[in-house]
Amino acid sequence: MHPMLNIAIKAARKAGSIINRASLELEQIRVASKQTNDFVTEVDHAAEQAIIATLREAYPDHAILAEESGASGDSEYVWIIDPLDGTTNFLHGFPQYAVSIGLQHRGQMAQAVVYDVVHNELFTATRGRGAFVNDRRIRVSSRPMLRDALIGTGFPYREFSRIDRYVELFKAFAQGSAGLRRPGAASLDLAYVAAGRLDGFFEMGLAPWDMAAGSLLVLEAGGLVGDFKGDEGYLEGGDIVCGNPKVFAQMIATIAGRA
Ligand code: IPD
Ligand code: CA
Ligand code: CA
Repeated sequence: MHPMLNIAIKAARKAGSIINRASLELEQIRVASKQTNDFVTEVDHAAEQAIIATLREAYPDHAILAEESGASGDSEYVWIIDPLDGTTNFLHGFPQYAVSIGLQHRGQMAQAVVYDVVHNELFTATRGRGAFVNDRRIRVSSRPMLRDALIGTGFPYREFSRIDRYVELFKAFAQGSAGLRRPGAASLDLAYVAAGRLDGFFEMGLAPWDMAAGSLLVLEAGGLVGDFKGDEGYLEGGDIVCGNPKVFAQMIATIAGRA
């Protein structure tokens, strides 16, 4: 295993045990609101600190971009961290949330860990070496047609400037696929595409830490990832589509002219 992936896994497991412990006493957790419907808890902060301490100890010169504490350092290596993806689910005891840690090297994703602490599924990838769940190789699905596909998505819930466009897409995919799901943790939605549990996924307005690790999982599992035009730049732009290659192409065609 690549040593940098090894360190990322160690960091994700530390965050995971903080999150797991806290999930047993949800009523005790102090919650702050960043903006409407955007919550952060002391658990998000503690998990992030544990991750950063682990990464810094091994790689003191690497840069960091983390959801709760922001950007620091200047390096060709950048760790992109979401310490708890799916905070709303976590707060409600809805068992779908994860730790997401990705490493970018010279602008390209190089290592990825998405750790589902509830189901104890560790999704990992190293660029050029495939994607895995708990050491088992994963591949995107081979389902060829969008009309037979199960598609993941995320609804807008705190920023509504493009909600009408989203509803247009929702209609198109509800009518054009076998089903839509909104599990509530984007990093895991991407991991599920990589594992072939979803045939595709789309969402608007995500942050880099929601997508960084998951996008490498999809690519290493043989899928395609793009913005709403199918191009690169989704990490900066925030709109993302991914899927197995055949479903991806049909999703891009469905979005064309609607978003
Ligand atoms: C959120 C989740 C959710 C997505 C949101 C994200 P958070 O992350 O990934 O599925 O719809 O856009 O912000 O805030 O729980 O880390
Ligand atoms: Ca997130
Ligand atoms: Ca988060």
